[in-house]
Amino acid sequence: MSRRAAVFGAAGQLGIELVRELKQRGYEVAAWSRAQVDISDRFAVENALAECDVQVVFNGAAYNQVDVAEKEPQAAFVGNALAVRNLALACRQMDAQLVHFSTDYVFDGTLGRAYVEEDATHPLGAYAVSKLAGEHYAQAYLDRPLIVRTSGVFGPGGLATARGNFVELMLRLAQSGNPIRVVEDHVASPTYAPLLASRTIDLLERGQTGIFHIGGGTPTSWFHFAKLIFETARVTPALQATDEREYRTAAKRPKYSALSNAKMERTGVEPMPSLRDAVGMYFQRRGK
Ligand SMILES: NC(=O)c1ccc[n+]([C@@H]2O[C@H](COP(=O)([O-])OP(=O)(O)OC[C@H]3O[C@@H](n4cnc5c(N)ncnc54)[C@H](OP(=O)(O)O)[C@@H]3O)[C@@H](O)[C@H]2O)c1
Repeated sequence: MSRRAAVFGAAGQLGIELVRELKQRGYEVAAWSRAQVDISDRFAVENALAECDVQVVFNGAAYNQVDVAEKEPQAAFVGNALAVRNLALACRQMDAQLVHFSTDYVFDGTLGRAYVEEDATHPLGAYAVSKLAGEHYAQAYLDRPLIVRTSGVFGPGGLATARGNFVELMLRLAQSGNPIRVVEDHVASPTYAPLLASRTIDLLERGQTGIFHIGGGTPTSWFHFAKLIFETARVTPALQATDEREYRTAAKRPKYSALSNAKMERTGVEPMPSLRDAVGMYFQRRGK
């Protein structure tokens, strides 16, 4: 029997990789970008899914503007929470499994070690609250959603979008010739989108449900991530470390939001490679 999957938010960094990986594994895939289906429109979601009898629905869509969300919390809530409710209701109606993605920002970053799935959540801003609400909506309407929390996503898809990703931002800044200041006192688990997609599908195919963390293999500060990017790209801009006191942002962010992948690894899914290897893979794909 053929396996059929749907992907919303298919033009995003993760969405692109989900579609690619699913097709590579022989799934029949129906996929929509935001221009094709806005998931905050419940009827658009239902109509799209009515056209294809899928067993699993992936939500690659998200409102990701962490700082802008402080000015427009409603927009963040619609895109990250109420829209997930739309997907959950449609999945319940069709008896399809929902695979949804969330963020390390559901945590406040005060624990000082990599977060495991059972740790208490405490979001620090509008984006983070909206993403946590999205998790709750998925769990409220469905018995067996798979929810994957991830961190600092970078993938080749970021080359084609206006928002891009951290790697592309650093490379652009390097070209400008000005000194680059990046925070050293915030640590996350930057995650390579193609591996996030494949590990998620590995979990799905193992019948896993509930919440899982899939972060990159190396917790790192944004400053050290930038350093690694420049080393890999063989460019030498003037990179300086700064901190959150000097570099103010509209949204408060967790200081140490690295994610532990131990639960994923216990299921037998392959561990994530080091960040150095993942950045190497990114540049290999970027060069093509
Ligand atoms: N990027 C990160 O650093 C990061 C960190 C932690 C967690 N995550 C989570 O990881 C997942 C994947 O993120 P990503 O990096 O792939 O994000 P991305 O590259 O920004 O892609 C998100 C996609 O969703 C689309 N979208 C936004 N609102 C939509 C709506 N209402 N209906 C349909 N599509 C909509 C966007 O379209 P437009 O571009 O047209 O708006 C974009 O194509 C998300 O759940 C995100 O919250 C990401």
